[in-house]
Amino acid sequence: MESSRIALPIGTALDRFIKNNQFQFQYASGELSQLLRDIALASKVVNREINKAGLIDIMGPMGSQNSGGEQQQKLDVLANIRFTRALTKGGEACALISEETESYVDLNNEGRYVIAIDPLDGSSNIDVNVSIGTIFSIYRRVSPVGKPIQDKDILQRGAEQVAAGYILYGSSTMLVYTTGHGVNGFTYESTLGEYVLSHPDMTIPEKGRTYSINEGSANSFSPAVKSYVQFCKDENYTARYIGSLVADFHRNLLKGGIYIYPATAKDKNGKLRLMYECNALAFIAEQAGGKATDGKKRILEIKPESLHERTPFYVGSKAMVEKAESF
Ligand code: AHG
Ligand code: MN
Ligand code: MN
Repeated sequence: MESSRIALPIGTALDRFIKNNQFQFQYASGELSQLLRDIALASKVVNREINKAGLIDIMGPMGSQNSGGEQQQKLDVLANIRFTRALTKGGEACALISEETESYVDLNNEGRYVIAIDPLDGSSNIDVNVSIGTIFSIYRRVSPVGKPIQDKDILQRGAEQVAAGYILYGSSTMLVYTTGHGVNGFTYESTLGEYVLSHPDMTIPEKGRTYSINEGSANSFSPAVKSYVQFCKDENYTARYIGSLVADFHRNLLKGGIYIYPATAKDKNGKLRLMYECNALAFIAEQAGGKATDGKKRILEIKPESLHERTPFYVGSKAMVEKAESF
Protein backbone atom coordinates (compact mmCIF):
# COMPACT_ATOMS: atom_id res chain seq x y z
CA MET A 1 0.00 0.00 0.00
CA GLU A 2 1.52 3.32 -1.07
CA SER A 3 0.94 5.85 1.71
CA SER A 4 0.95 9.56 1.04
CA ARG A 5 4.12 11.35 2.10
CA ILE A 6 4.31 13.91 4.84
CA ALA A 7 6.56 16.75 3.71
CA LEU A 8 8.79 17.86 6.56
CA PRO A 9 10.89 21.02 6.39
CA ILE A 10 14.64 21.15 5.95
CA GLY A 11 16.24 21.13 9.38
CA THR A 12 13.92 18.44 10.76
CA ALA A 13 15.89 16.15 13.08
CA LEU A 14 16.29 12.54 11.92
CA ASP A 15 14.46 11.15 14.96
CA ARG A 16 11.39 13.25 14.27
CA PHE A 17 11.54 12.42 10.59
CA ILE A 18 11.66 8.69 11.29
CA LYS A 19 8.80 8.96 13.76
CA ASN A 20 6.61 10.98 11.40
CA ASN A 21 7.12 8.50 8.60
CA GLN A 22 6.71 5.34 10.64
CA PHE A 23 3.18 4.85 9.33
CA GLN A 24 4.67 4.07 5.88
CA PHE A 25 6.06 0.74 7.05
CA GLN A 26 3.94 -2.25 6.41
CA TYR A 27 4.47 -3.45 9.99
CA ALA A 28 4.62 -0.17 11.88
CA SER A 29 5.70 -1.61 15.21
CA GLY A 30 8.52 0.87 15.66
CA GLU A 31 11.27 -1.74 15.43
CA LEU A 32 12.53 -0.65 12.04
CA SER A 33 12.57 2.94 13.28
CA GLN A 34 14.65 1.89 16.26
CA LEU A 35 17.01 0.01 13.97
CA LEU A 36 17.59 3.14 11.90
CA ARG A 37 18.25 5.11 15.08
CA ASP A 38 20.77 2.48 16.25
CA ILE A 39 22.61 2.71 12.93
CA ALA A 40 22.59 6.52 13.10
CA LEU A 41 23.98 6.44 16.63
CA ALA A 42 26.79 4.01 15.73
CA SER A 43 27.66 6.18 12.75
CA LYS A 44 28.12 9.19 15.03
CA VAL A 45 30.62 7.22 17.09
CA VAL A 46 32.44 6.10 13.93
CA ASN A 47 32.37 9.67 12.63
CA ARG A 48 34.02 10.88 15.82
CA GLU A 49 36.74 8.27 15.47
CA ILE A 50 37.33 9.02 11.79
CA ASN A 51 37.69 12.71 12.61
CA LYS A 52 40.48 11.87 15.05
CA ALA A 53 42.37 9.68 12.58
CA GLY A 54 45.88 11.06 12.36
CA LEU A 55 45.81 12.26 15.95
CA ILE A 56 45.47 8.89 17.62
CA ASP A 57 46.75 5.52 16.51
CA ILE A 58 43.78 4.30 14.46
CA MET A 59 45.18 4.51 10.94
CA GLY A 60 47.06 1.91 8.94
CA PRO A 61 46.72 -1.83 8.54
CA MET A 62 45.48 -4.07 11.29
CA GLY A 63 47.73 -6.93 10.19
CA SER A 64 44.75 -9.22 9.48
CA GLN A 65 42.53 -10.04 6.50
CA ASN A 66 38.78 -9.78 5.95
CA SER A 67 36.31 -12.19 4.35
CA GLY A 68 37.65 -11.34 0.89
CA GLY A 69 41.29 -11.85 1.85
CA GLU A 70 41.90 -8.09 1.76
CA GLN A 71 44.07 -6.28 4.32
CA GLN A 72 41.91 -5.01 7.17
CA GLN A 73 42.59 -1.46 8.26
CA LYS A 74 42.31 -0.53 11.93
CA LEU A 75 39.29 1.64 11.14
CA ASP A 76 37.58 -1.23 9.25
CA VAL A 77 37.77 -3.29 12.40
CA LEU A 78 36.78 -0.43 14.70
CA ALA A 79 33.76 0.51 12.56
CA ASN A 80 32.68 -3.14 12.44
CA ILE A 81 32.81 -3.30 16.24
CA ARG A 82 30.78 -0.07 16.62
CA PHE A 83 27.99 -1.12 14.26
CA THR A 84 27.92 -4.72 15.49
CA ARG A 85 27.66 -3.56 19.08
CA ALA A 86 24.85 -1.08 18.38
CA LEU A 87 22.87 -3.62 16.35
CA THR A 88 23.44 -6.44 18.83
CA LYS A 89 22.43 -4.41 21.87
CA GLY A 90 19.42 -2.90 20.12
CA GLY A 91 17.61 -6.27 19.89
CA GLU A 92 15.78 -5.53 16.63
CA ALA A 93 18.34 -7.33 14.46
CA CYS A 94 18.43 -11.15 14.60
CA ALA A 95 21.33 -11.66 12.21
CA LEU A 96 24.26 -9.65 10.89
CA ILE A 97 26.18 -9.97 7.64
CA SER A 98 29.37 -7.93 7.46
CA GLU A 99 32.21 -7.53 5.00
CA GLU A 100 34.56 -7.96 7.93
CA THR A 101 33.15 -11.31 9.12
CA GLU A 102 33.51 -14.60 7.28
CA SER A 103 30.08 -16.03 8.19
CA TYR A 104 26.91 -14.33 9.32
CA VAL A 105 26.18 -13.92 13.02
CA ASP A 106 22.97 -15.39 14.45
CA LEU A 107 22.15 -13.15 17.40
CA ASN A 108 19.79 -15.75 18.89
CA ASN A 109 17.16 -13.25 19.89
CA GLU A 110 13.60 -12.26 19.05
CA GLY A 111 14.72 -9.66 16.50
CA ARG A 112 12.89 -9.58 13.22
CA TYR A 113 15.43 -7.92 10.93
CA VAL A 114 18.52 -9.11 9.11
CA ILE A 115 21.22 -6.51 8.46
CA ALA A 116 23.98 -6.56 5.84
CA ILE A 117 26.69 -3.97 6.30
CA ASP A 118 29.93 -2.68 4.84
CA PRO A 119 31.06 -0.94 8.04
CA LEU A 120 33.72 1.11 6.30
CA ASP A 121 33.79 1.55 2.56
CA GLY A 122 36.78 3.07 0.80
CA SER A 123 39.50 1.64 3.02
CA SER A 124 42.26 2.81 0.71
CA ASN A 125 41.21 6.40 1.44
CA ILE A 126 41.31 6.19 5.25
CA ASP A 127 44.94 7.17 5.63
CA VAL A 128 44.78 10.07 3.21
CA ASN A 129 41.83 12.05 4.58
CA VAL A 130 39.54 11.36 1.63
CA SER A 131 35.80 10.63 1.95
CA ILE A 132 34.81 7.16 3.14
CA GLY A 133 31.46 5.60 3.99
CA THR A 134 29.25 2.94 5.55
CA ILE A 135 26.62 0.98 3.57
CA PHE A 136 23.69 -0.96 5.06
CA SER A 137 20.74 -3.07 3.92
CA ILE A 138 17.82 -4.16 6.10
CA TYR A 139 15.65 -7.23 5.43
CA ARG A 140 12.79 -8.84 7.33
CA ARG A 141 13.51 -12.25 8.74
CA VAL A 142 11.44 -14.82 6.82
CA SER A 143 11.72 -17.92 9.05
CA PRO A 144 9.84 -18.02 12.36
CA VAL A 145 11.34 -16.10 15.28
CA GLY A 146 12.75 -18.28 18.07
CA LYS A 147 14.44 -20.82 15.75
CA PRO A 148 18.00 -20.71 14.37
CA ILE A 149 18.51 -18.37 11.42
CA GLN A 150 18.26 -20.11 8.05
CA ASP A 151 19.90 -19.48 4.70
CA LYS A 152 16.61 -18.12 3.33
CA ASP A 153 16.76 -15.33 5.97
CA ILE A 154 20.25 -14.39 4.85
CA LEU A 155 20.39 -14.92 1.09
CA GLN A 156 17.51 -12.64 0.11
CA ARG A 157 17.29 -10.72 -3.14
CA GLY A 158 17.87 -6.98 -2.96
CA ALA A 159 14.24 -6.52 -3.97
CA GLU A 160 13.30 -7.77 -0.48
CA GLN A 161 15.08 -4.90 1.30
CA VAL A 162 12.77 -2.94 3.59
CA ALA A 163 15.29 -0.16 4.06
CA ALA A 164 18.81 0.70 2.95
CA GLY A 165 21.19 3.56 3.27
CA TYR A 166 24.69 4.87 3.55
CA ILE A 167 26.67 7.26 5.63
CA LEU A 168 29.21 9.44 3.87
CA TYR A 169 32.04 10.74 6.04
CA GLY A 170 32.99 13.61 3.76
CA SER A 171 33.48 17.35 3.93
CA SER A 172 30.32 17.01 5.98
CA THR A 173 28.89 13.75 7.26
CA MET A 174 25.62 12.65 5.70
CA LEU A 175 23.16 9.84 6.19
CA VAL A 176 21.06 8.98 3.14
CA TYR A 177 18.39 6.31 3.33
CA THR A 178 15.23 4.89 1.83
CA THR A 179 12.44 2.72 3.15
CA GLY A 180 10.96 2.37 -0.32
CA HIS A 181 9.16 5.72 -0.23
CA GLY A 182 11.75 7.95 -1.85
CA VAL A 183 15.22 8.91 -0.68
CA ASN A 184 16.09 11.46 1.98
CA GLY A 185 19.46 12.88 3.01
CA PHE A 186 20.45 14.17 6.44
CA THR A 187 23.52 16.20 7.32
CA TYR A 188 25.23 15.71 10.66
CA GLU A 189 25.27 18.83 12.81
CA SER A 190 28.12 17.97 15.14
CA THR A 191 27.50 20.72 17.70
CA LEU A 192 23.95 19.42 18.16
CA GLY A 193 24.95 15.77 17.74
CA GLU A 194 22.00 15.36 15.37
CA TYR A 195 21.38 14.43 11.77
CA VAL A 196 19.05 17.02 10.24
CA LEU A 197 17.10 16.81 7.00
CA SER A 198 19.08 18.66 4.33
CA HIS A 199 18.19 16.81 1.10
CA PRO A 200 14.47 15.91 1.09
CA ASP A 201 13.10 13.59 -1.59
CA MET A 202 16.33 13.19 -3.54
CA THR A 203 16.15 12.44 -7.25
CA ILE A 204 19.00 11.60 -9.59
CA PRO A 205 19.14 13.54 -12.84
CA GLU A 206 17.88 11.37 -15.71
CA LYS A 207 21.02 12.17 -17.72
CA GLY A 208 24.52 13.16 -16.71
CA ARG A 209 27.97 13.89 -18.08
CA THR A 210 30.19 12.26 -15.46
CA TYR A 211 31.56 8.72 -15.59
CA SER A 212 33.26 6.97 -12.70
CA ILE A 213 35.35 3.89 -13.40
CA ASN A 214 38.87 2.83 -12.48
CA GLU A 215 40.49 3.30 -15.88
CA GLY A 216 43.77 1.98 -14.53
CA SER A 217 42.24 -1.45 -15.14
CA ALA A 218 41.22 -0.61 -18.73
CA ASN A 219 43.47 -3.27 -20.25
CA SER A 220 41.39 -5.96 -18.59
CA PHE A 221 37.97 -4.49 -19.46
CA SER A 222 35.79 -6.28 -22.00
CA PRO A 223 35.62 -4.77 -25.51
CA ALA A 224 32.10 -3.48 -24.69
CA VAL A 225 33.25 -1.61 -21.58
CA LYS A 226 36.27 -0.26 -23.44
CA SER A 227 34.00 1.11 -26.17
CA TYR A 228 31.64 2.67 -23.64
CA VAL A 229 34.57 4.44 -21.96
CA GLN A 230 35.69 5.64 -25.40
CA PHE A 231 32.13 6.87 -26.03
CA CYS A 232 32.30 8.90 -22.79
CA LYS A 233 35.52 10.51 -24.01
CA ASP A 234 34.11 11.21 -27.46
CA GLU A 235 31.20 12.95 -25.74
CA ASN A 236 33.66 14.99 -23.62
CA TYR A 237 32.22 13.63 -20.40
CA THR A 238 34.06 14.34 -17.17
CA ALA A 239 35.87 11.49 -15.39
CA ARG A 240 35.55 11.40 -11.59
CA TYR A 241 36.74 8.43 -9.56
CA ILE A 242 37.50 8.72 -5.87
CA GLY A 243 37.81 5.01 -5.10
CA SER A 244 35.23 5.18 -2.31
CA LEU A 245 32.05 3.72 -3.75
CA VAL A 246 29.81 5.70 -1.39
CA ALA A 247 31.44 9.01 -2.32
CA ASP A 248 31.41 8.29 -6.06
CA PHE A 249 27.78 7.18 -5.86
CA HIS A 250 26.73 10.20 -3.81
CA ARG A 251 28.26 12.68 -6.25
CA ASN A 252 26.51 11.02 -9.18
CA LEU A 253 23.22 10.90 -7.25
CA LEU A 254 23.33 14.66 -6.77
CA LYS A 255 24.85 15.74 -10.08
CA GLY A 256 23.96 12.93 -12.49
CA GLY A 257 26.47 10.36 -13.70
CA ILE A 258 27.31 6.70 -13.93
CA TYR A 259 29.49 4.53 -11.71
CA ILE A 260 30.84 1.32 -13.20
CA TYR A 261 32.81 -1.47 -11.58
CA PRO A 262 32.85 -3.96 -14.43
CA ALA A 263 33.95 -7.54 -14.74
CA THR A 264 37.65 -7.64 -15.53
CA ALA A 265 39.91 -10.31 -16.95
CA LYS A 266 41.09 -11.02 -13.40
CA ASP A 267 37.75 -10.68 -11.58
CA LYS A 268 34.96 -12.21 -13.64
CA ASN A 269 32.34 -10.69 -11.34
CA GLY A 270 34.08 -7.42 -10.71
CA LYS A 271 35.08 -6.46 -7.20
CA LEU A 272 32.01 -5.14 -5.43
CA ARG A 273 29.86 -7.21 -3.10
CA LEU A 274 26.23 -7.81 -3.92
CA MET A 275 24.91 -8.11 -0.37
CA TYR A 276 26.49 -5.18 1.43
CA GLU A 277 27.60 -2.79 -1.30
CA CYS A 278 25.50 -3.07 -4.46
CA ASN A 279 22.01 -3.94 -3.18
CA ALA A 280 21.68 -0.93 -0.89
CA LEU A 281 22.91 1.53 -3.51
CA ALA A 282 20.75 -0.12 -6.19
CA PHE A 283 17.67 0.31 -3.98
CA ILE A 284 18.52 3.97 -3.36
CA ALA A 285 19.29 4.59 -7.04
CA GLU A 286 15.94 3.16 -8.13
CA GLN A 287 14.06 5.05 -5.43
CA ALA A 288 15.71 8.23 -6.70
CA GLY A 289 14.67 7.48 -10.29
CA GLY A 290 17.99 5.96 -11.40
CA LYS A 291 18.99 2.48 -12.44
CA ALA A 292 21.33 -0.29 -11.27
CA THR A 293 22.28 -3.40 -13.21
CA ASP A 294 25.11 -5.89 -13.58
CA GLY A 295 25.36 -4.80 -17.21
CA LYS A 296 22.32 -6.86 -18.19
CA LYS A 297 20.16 -7.71 -15.22
CA ARG A 298 18.60 -5.57 -12.49
CA ILE A 299 20.81 -5.83 -9.39
CA LEU A 300 17.79 -6.13 -7.07
CA GLU A 301 16.65 -9.31 -8.90
CA ILE A 302 19.88 -11.24 -8.36
CA LYS A 303 19.39 -14.15 -5.98
CA PRO A 304 22.56 -14.34 -3.86
CA GLU A 305 24.17 -17.75 -3.55
CA SER A 306 26.77 -16.82 -1.00
CA LEU A 307 27.34 -14.12 1.57
CA HIS A 308 30.29 -12.38 -0.02
CA GLU A 309 29.46 -12.86 -3.68
CA ARG A 310 30.56 -10.19 -6.13
CA THR A 311 28.79 -8.64 -9.08
CA PRO A 312 29.67 -6.24 -11.87
CA PHE A 313 27.94 -2.96 -11.02
CA TYR A 314 26.52 -0.22 -13.27
CA VAL A 315 24.61 2.42 -11.32
CA GLY A 316 23.46 6.00 -11.71
CA SER A 317 21.43 8.15 -14.08
CA LYS A 318 18.88 6.02 -15.92
CA ALA A 319 19.75 7.16 -19.44
CA MET A 320 23.48 6.66 -18.84
CA VAL A 321 23.09 3.13 -17.44
CA GLU A 322 20.87 2.22 -20.39
CA LYS A 323 23.41 3.65 -22.82
CA ALA A 324 26.23 1.66 -21.17
CA GLU A 325 24.10 -1.50 -21.36
CA SER A 326 23.53 -0.96 -25.08
CA PHE A 327 27.25 -1.50 -25.72
P1 AHG B 1 36.10 -1.53 0.84
O1 AHG B 1 36.96 -0.42 1.33
O2 AHG B 1 34.84 -1.67 1.64
O3 AHG B 1 36.85 -2.83 0.68
O4 AHG B 1 35.56 -1.15 -0.61
C1 AHG B 1 36.45 -0.66 -1.58
C2 AHG B 1 35.74 -0.65 -2.89
C3 AHG B 1 34.91 0.58 -3.19
O5 AHG B 1 34.72 1.47 -2.17
C4 AHG B 1 35.64 1.28 -4.28
O6 AHG B 1 34.78 1.88 -5.19
C5 AHG B 1 36.44 0.20 -4.90
O7 AHG B 1 36.73 -0.71 -3.89
C6 AHG B 1 37.72 0.71 -5.47
O8 AHG B 1 38.39 -0.34 -6.07
P2 AHG B 1 39.59 -0.09 -7.07
O9 AHG B 1 40.73 0.40 -6.24
O10 AHG B 1 39.85 -1.44 -7.67
O11 AHG B 1 39.14 0.91 -8.09
MN1 MN C 1 33.21 -1.34 0.34
MN1 MN D 1 34.59 -2.05 3.69
